[in-house]
Amino acid sequence: MSIPFIDLKAQYKALQPQIRERINCVLEHGQYIMGPEVKELEDKLQTYTGAKHCITVASGTEALLISLMALGIEPGDEIITTPFTFVATAEVIVLLGAKPVFVDIEPDTCNIDAGKIEAKVTNKTKAIIPVSLYGQVADMDEINAIAEKHNLPVIEDAAQSFGAEYKGNKSCNLSTIGCTSFFPSKPLGCYGDGGAIFTNDDNLANACREIRVHGQSQRYVHTRVGVGGRMDTIQCAVVLAKFERFDWEVKQRQLIGQRYNELLAAANIDLVTLRPDRTSVYAQYTVLVSDRDEMQKRLSEVGIPTAVHYPVPLNEQPVYNHLCCPDCTPIAENMAMRVMSLPMSPDLSVKDQDKIVGGLLA
Ligand SMILES: Cc1ncc(COP(=O)(O)O)c(C=O)c1O
Repeated sequence: MSIPFIDLKAQYKALQPQIRERINCVLEHGQYIMGPEVKELEDKLQTYTGAKHCITVASGTEALLISLMALGIEPGDEIITTPFTFVATAEVIVLLGAKPVFVDIEPDTCNIDAGKIEAKVTNKTKAIIPVSLYGQVADMDEINAIAEKHNLPVIEDAAQSFGAEYKGNKSCNLSTIGCTSFFPSKPLGCYGDGGAIFTNDDNLANACREIRVHGQSQRYVHTRVGVGGRMDTIQCAVVLAKFERFDWEVKQRQLIGQRYNELLAAANIDLVTLRPDRTSVYAQYTVLVSDRDEMQKRLSEVGIPTAVHYPVPLNEQPVYNHLCCPDCTPIAENMAMRVMSLPMSPDLSVKDQDKIVGGLLA
């Protein structure tokens, strides 16, 4: 029997009554769009992160797009970001006619190297988007300091890090805007697409709320260009049900991540480093290997699935490689050849984890 890469079935089993009750409630009241669960979830997530505003949206991608639109990003603007991320981070920049400027990553955390950002700031730079990769926040203090010096907003792409902490503060509430995703496999997921924007800025929050509904400031009064970017009530209901055991899940993820760290470090496997002043929610538990293809094949044969996040840095993707010299982020290039993610879920058993580690070391 194969170990699930992410065990959503075990989570559903544990939460079945709450999830069904929440979904049934939406079916009964029938407010499928902007029903009461939308506001209930936004209120809960505001309290959880400490951010003044939470605006739920259709996906993590939409959260990034709406945030950039709210900041007034225009064709020709430059946005500094990492090439070692899911494509959505750069895609939304290009969709608005702006240019992603890729900065290389740290070899140990795989997050953007804050020390290399300032050299890329020009008079066209309009924002910085660090990504909290694998569930660990990047060096936000250093990034915020550069942003402040150059009067730039910072959008944390926290699609993988909801629940993580940086110096005691929650991911999503560490900069001008935080964007997360409720894609089913994310640390806090729904049963479809969903996402959220967090900010402490009233004007930005208002802009995001309007852009989410076609730029509408009042019914059929469109004062900005917007999108159809709402999160469905049913998906908010699912997140509300899952949120009930989220604290436990975060603790489990951290215990399992720490156990992986201990077992694998003892075996001399290179790991993604967790900085001591922050926590990770291990959206992915990722190791660094040199013979990845062979290793993945061998693990797959014994029922251990693995994945690669990500095999190609974005500045080397066919559609984006004209935007940046293909070899100007050598660390990202190297990491893309070595990273391999192992099964990770709050419900991963010690027995299965031992099997995974055993398979890796065989
Ligand atoms: C780093 C990062 N940014 C953005 C996204 C986009 O989120 P969504 O799939 O909800 O649109 C993801 C999701 O995979 C992601 O991992």
